[in-house]
Amino acid sequence: MRETLERGEPVSVVDIRPKDQRVEWRIPGSVHFDAYEALKAKAPHAMEGMDLPERLPVVTVCAAGNTSAVAAEQLRDRAFEVYTLEGGMKAWSLAWNLAEVELPETEARVVQVRRTGKGCLSYLAGSGGEAAVIDAAVDPEVYARLAEERGWRIAHVLDTHVHADHLSRSRTLADLVGAELHMPEVARVSYPFSPLGDGREVWIGAARLEALLTPGHTTESTNYLLNRKALFTGDTLFLSAVGRPDLEASPEGARENARALHDSLRRLLGLDEETLVMPGHTREPVPFDGKPVAAPLSEVRRNTPLLGVDEEAFVSKIAGHVAPPPENYERIVRLNRCGKMPEEDPTELEAGANRCAAG
Ligand SMILES: [Fe+2]
Repeated sequence: MRETLERGEPVSVVDIRPKDQRVEWRIPGSVHFDAYEALKAKAPHAMEGMDLPERLPVVTVCAAGNTSAVAAEQLRDRAFEVYTLEGGMKAWSLAWNLAEVELPETEARVVQVRRTGKGCLSYLAGSGGEAAVIDAAVDPEVYARLAEERGWRIAHVLDTHVHADHLSRSRTLADLVGAELHMPEVARVSYPFSPLGDGREVWIGAARLEALLTPGHTTESTNYLLNRKALFTGDTLFLSAVGRPDLEASPEGARENARALHDSLRRLLGLDEETLVMPGHTREPVPFDGKPVAAPLSEVRRNTPLLGVDEEAFVSKIAGHVAPPPENYERIVRLNRCGKMPEEDPTELEAGANRCAAG
């Protein structure tokens, strides 16, 4: 289905899950038909009344791909071509697409690798035959192949912080391609890595990647500035929101983190306003449109009211942020601290949309 969407071919995606699951996350452009209970109850005409555009292929979707197969069967005599998404939304959680990022006045190139359903954004940055991967979140083979296609050797792999919403693929990727694995110096992880303190740099061919320690979302959160033109912000700054400070923190700890985040954001706002902000996540599913999820700092500032408030207002606003934490985040953090993938299917742990932003 990824190929179909990437080619922009029209297809009707029919989501038959209960409404509350759909609110949580969905495939962009899909339509909803709440037939789940009826299908579960084996009602023979559960899909009756569903409006289908004529002669478009139909793909039915549910959580794991079983009920949607029954829905597909029921639609088969009505539609031109009917498929079901094998593995359902769990499998969809691993689907990805790409956007090439245009960087002005630098020969470095950046590819944004987006995990569509989860909204995880990772980056492959290349220059002079070398590349770095930041916040690897899809199958390591994907980055290896993308780099090879561009004539790059992945020399460095970096994470902006210890992630709570998805399993980091960075350690596995570094092993796979023989790259140096970097983490922020203060990261509490149990595997060996090259530490990056504030101001330290990594060279990708002729491009310079500078580490800026920006605590707040987590203590070790670090931004990476590429040739002073583009900023990989992880979960510190999104395009219209800031990172949440409360994961793994007591209420007092969350206030302290919020204060640190306020300082970190002030520091980032001091960068050139044309700097391109490239965040680690987005709350919305990422369409197959090839358009990067990125914006100049000046635009991010305009679209993020929280960046304009003073420290006290900022702290009380975001430390009181009570959105539920990402599903299974404690286990995900535990695994990311050891750099391990779980023995079971990782999509079981990673299900659900991203919840790393506040405001
Ligand atoms: Fe995060």
